[in-house]
Amino acid sequence: MAPAMDGIRIRGGKPLTGRVRISGSKNAALPILCATLLSDGQSLIRNVPDLKDIETTAELLETMGRPCDAAPPMVAVHPGAVTPEAPYELVKQMRASVLVLGPLVARYGKARVSLPGGCQIGSRPVDQHLKGLEALGAKLRTEHGYVIAEAPRLRGTEIVFDVPTVTGTENLMMAAALAKGRTTLVNSAREPEVVELARVLNKMGAKVRGAGTPVIEIEGQDELAPFDHAIVADRIEAGTYMVAAAAAGGDVLVEGVPVDDLEALVAKLRASGVGLEADGNGVRVVRGKTLRSVDVTTSPHPGFPTDMQAQFMVLMCLAEGTSRISETVFENRFMHVPELRRMGAEIEVQGHTAFVRHVTRLEGATVMATDLRASASLVIAGLVADGETIVRRVYHLDRGYEHIEDKLGAIGADVTRVHGLAG
Ligand code: EPZ
Repeated sequence: MAPAMDGIRIRGGKPLTGRVRISGSKNAALPILCATLLSDGQSLIRNVPDLKDIETTAELLETMGRPCDAAPPMVAVHPGAVTPEAPYELVKQMRASVLVLGPLVARYGKARVSLPGGCQIGSRPVDQHLKGLEALGAKLRTEHGYVIAEAPRLRGTEIVFDVPTVTGTENLMMAAALAKGRTTLVNSAREPEVVELARVLNKMGAKVRGAGTPVIEIEGQDELAPFDHAIVADRIEAGTYMVAAAAAGGDVLVEGVPVDDLEALVAKLRASGVGLEADGNGVRVVRGKTLRSVDVTTSPHPGFPTDMQAQFMVLMCLAEGTSRISETVFENRFMHVPELRRMGAEIEVQGHTAFVRHVTRLEGATVMATDLRASASLVIAGLVADGETIVRRVYHLDRGYEHIEDKLGAIGADVTRVHGLAG
């Protein structure tokens, strides 16, 4: 019998009002925690979100021999003798564990890391990570599902990515920070999380230039120092609350929004008729009378973030007209569509494009979360829908949204966690 799991019950139809504070960024915190492996000293990371993925990363560092005091928002990573091995049991819980590979090879000259398996949203290979490490001089082989890498000392070189990969860029930036000589990463990812990691590496004494542009240069150092750093706010969590407020209606101040990192989303929200006003270090979201459908194509930063596609699709269900949403980053990121249809949405998928037709209302239903951002879209649909919605398998949600019931409850939503639902 499937194990009992948590769900979230939402009674919809209530406008949202009040203020919600955005937590530190999950996708910035994960590589920064892995960067602690580049130095032997104690590093302190602040404004860390209280999430399952942070717990898993702390467990991974502990397993490798670096004691951690993980009490979000603060995480301290202490010195310790490292066994450069990332076991399958932890990597299977979180693909981003592959981010220890670069730091381990660079700092310890060897690493044995379980290769991440398949993922709901796409095949997600790590060939670019491995290609880059080989270019830096590492000898790689795969054995029993693990990649084994060895390199007495990595050597700086030029690496051209076939695709701009976020964690690929981060892994090789960290590896190059302790390599001999200069490394140039071409066609790099430009995401704000890459820029945030470069900030930390430079705090550690590395010399990273050009993060946020397609070409990043890294002058390798012989040694790096520990750091103390406060993580930037989570742009995807912020975007999710902005879309929730726009969909449910009402007047919400989303506090601590890294607005500059959300230009593409802000432009699409405004084009669809959502009122957005800068207010202190936040954004006030006020839903206009009618929502207009807009077309969206996801792409690497500064394009429209794929991690906001599912949430934005719910908003387009409520917008006059038909919206075309094209997903170009991951090949299988429409898993939320059949669940939204069960709530009365009219969405037709043709290849990588979804055609979202206007409906006057959504109906509450029991739905199944399949991945992190799909689960956020189902929660937003539940906030809008008539009646009760139960979102099952919310462990997906807990990986990326801190205390979501409390935060939504604080702005007037009727959301409760339900324990022990059949899986
Ligand atoms: C990061 O994943 C994020 N995760 C993802 O967020 C996000 O969706 C993604 O970037 C895109 O923005 C973290 O930062 C921990 P990619 P990542 O490598 O680095 C292909 C969330 O919801 N590719 O930039 O794994 C790949 O298949 C998560 O918080 C290769 O072909 O994504 C994809 O099509 C989900 N070979 C494209 O590149 C490689 O070696 C972009 O993937 C690497 C990637």
